[in-house]
Amino acid sequence: MTLTMALPKGRLLDNVKNLFSLKGMDFSFVNRKLVAHDSSNTLKIFLVKNSDLPTYVNHGIAGLGICGSDVLYENSYDFFKLMTFDFGGTSMCIAGKKGEKLDMSGKKLTIATKFTKFTRDYYHKRGIPVEIVKLNGSVELAPVLGLTRYIVDLVETGSTLKANNLEVFEKLEDIKVHLIVNPSYYKLNYKAINAFVERIK
Ligand code: PRP
Repeated sequence: MTLTMALPKGRLLDNVKNLFSLKGMDFSFVNRKLVAHDSSNTLKIFLVKNSDLPTYVNHGIAGLGICGSDVLYENSYDFFKLMTFDFGGTSMCIAGKKGEKLDMSGKKLTIATKFTKFTRDYYHKRGIPVEIVKLNGSVELAPVLGLTRYIVDLVETGSTLKANNLEVFEKLEDIKVHLIVNPSYYKLNYKAINAFVERIK
């Protein structure tokens, strides 16, 4: 049977492509198509925006998905995590202008981020008041232009921060990439899904 899977646009895609290719499941999205089949017809793959991936899996449109714990946290859906990959690991960090530091003198921390739920929960748990500005991308601009003093964002190589004269003040959490499955889809297709997991392990 063919399994359905959502994959996120962006830098994870090349890692997934390489892994699947090693396991005899080549695929590519030609001419800006957003649906592809792999060369062994194991998977029908949908290319979606990172932050939309849990929505597709939650609705069962894609039974499987590959995405980071950052994105999973922002959506409180119920998935099974079938495996964790050894690629795509990043850190969720609070950062700001180089030379400044985290001012915890009691006033609210003003933070721009894509990850509003994570940021709110992280600081509320610690009793630290925060004012959050939701952005959808280019978050690094916020401290540069004076929208907020801080950002909470993913840092992989650190080159985006460096290029914008920013630096990490504190690492908040390690982020890992998971294979997730819609629980009902797993119950119906566990044999094929387990075989697939064995294949890519
Ligand atoms: C992420 C993140 C940073 C950048 C950090 O964005 O939001 O902007 O990568 O990576 P670095 O430390 O290697 O420079 P991404 O490129 O995934 O795009 P997005 O903003 O569309 O999510």
